[in-house]
Amino acid sequence: MLRCIDHVGHAVHDLDTAVAHYRDVLGAEVVHTETIERDGVREALLAVGDGFVQLLEATRPDSPVARFIERNGEGVHHIGYRVDDVAAALAQARQGGARLVDEEPRPGSRGTMVAFLHPKSMHGVLVELVQEP
Ligand code: CO
Repeated sequence: MLRCIDHVGHAVHDLDTAVAHYRDVLGAEVVHTETIERDGVREALLAVGDGFVQLLEATRPDSPVARFIERNGEGVHHIGYRVDDVAAALAQARQGGARLVDEEPRPGSRGTMVAFLHPKSMHGVLVELVQEP
């Protein structure tokens, strides 16, 4: 069911600063940027093979990324797994006993469809299922 790690979500205070740091330290290049208003985030995707590092900056104080940083500081926020069929993967997750953040798949960035599984039911890691456009 899991094709590969699509991306690792990394919550940061300031996107431009983090992008510059990833470029200087790791030579990582931005391949996509997007603001997702409903989630209150601005993201930059850095290419890592077939997958990405997804740098996330909050666009408002009540966004989940802002609350995450308030609690934990900057750091790894979630892991996105690429799947062929997010609806089927979500059904399996539900059947397997995961607590769902999203009852139905919903639009993610760059035209993907995504669904999140609650970290309390995933041994402490927020998990995202990602279906490519
Ligand atoms: Co993500």
